[in-house]
Amino acid sequence: MTWWRPGWSVVAAPVVLVALVAVVRTAHARDARDALMRADPETILATPALARTALALGHQGFVQHCASCHGTGGPDQARGMPDLTDGDYLYGTGKVAEIEQIVLHGIRSGDPRGWQLAAMPAYSHAKPYAAEPIPPMTPAQIGDMIQFLQFRHGTATDAAAAARGAKVYAGSGGCYDCHGNDAAGDEAIGAPNLLDDVWLYGGSPATLARTFREGRAGVSPAYAHALSPAEARAIAVYVADLARHGRHDG
Ligand code: HEC
Ligand code: HEC
Repeated sequence: MTWWRPGWSVVAAPVVLVALVAVVRTAHARDARDALMRADPETILATPALARTALALGHQGFVQHCASCHGTGGPDQARGMPDLTDGDYLYGTGKVAEIEQIVLHGIRSGDPRGWQLAAMPAYSHAKPYAAEPIPPMTPAQIGDMIQFLQFRHGTATDAAAAARGAKVYAGSGGCYDCHGNDAAGDEAIGAPNLLDDVWLYGGSPATLARTFREGRAGVSPAYAHALSPAEARAIAVYVADLARHGRHDG
């Protein structure tokens, strides 16, 4: 044949080899992703081969989709960013499947499958809460409520005000309904524990006043349309691992 010249195989062989390696690698990556989807999500971190795949893919996805808000996973109270490294969760208990649900459907994201059961009412508004008839608080009551929370943290300066705040907490304010009679929060609706030292927005009097006056409704976006199922699961595994080993850099 006229197109064949002896030296060609020297050029063609490496090209064919590189192409073959690429095909094998792609197939291998696809197998690894399929394995992630077949596995029980809670066992992935304990299975070295699956954990390696998930953490590499998950880190890449976290940097690309989550880091703009969550940074390296640590808290950011100015922006209401929860600490993903502390093992303390607003929703659920930190299972991979629970985190995966947040990655796919978000929190107050507009996706009907996301979390959106409750938000913090805005008590300086005439109608603090759209979903329930909760009455507003006066500025004096807001002051009392700050004293009440500070009392529970051992930093109150006015015991009488704290006692008045306690009454509003358990009565007209309706706080007990979401944060619990004991103020320890409710992970089924994302109502934070008000007694521990983990703050989403902060526990200073000025920040508390703003929380009570204006309300809070943090949003984590839904990624069901942007990620493959395996990518979403890998990111969830990576986030679950952040809490197990503390903060990762980069
Ligand atoms: C636009 C900013 C933003 C982006 C992007 C974002 N999040 Fe969030 N995320 C938030 C905020 C704000 C909250 C707190 C929501 C609340 O107040 O309930 C949150 C909450 C969470 C929680 C719940 C934490 C807890 O303590 O229960 C998880 C898990 C989470 N995000 C994971 C992710 C992952 C993984 C990604 C990337 C796929 C991501 N988020 C992308 C803003 C963001
Ligand atoms: C309808 C349910 C609901 C009611 C009623 C409610 N909260 Fe909340 N509260 C929430 C939710 C949900 C959040 C978290 C908002 C977010 O994630 O952005 C929150 C957040 C907060 C925070 C911020 C905590 C932090 O870590 O920064 C404080 C403080 C708080 N609530 C206190 C109160 C007090 C005091 C009352 C009564 C006056 C009250 N809440 C009434 C649901 C409620």
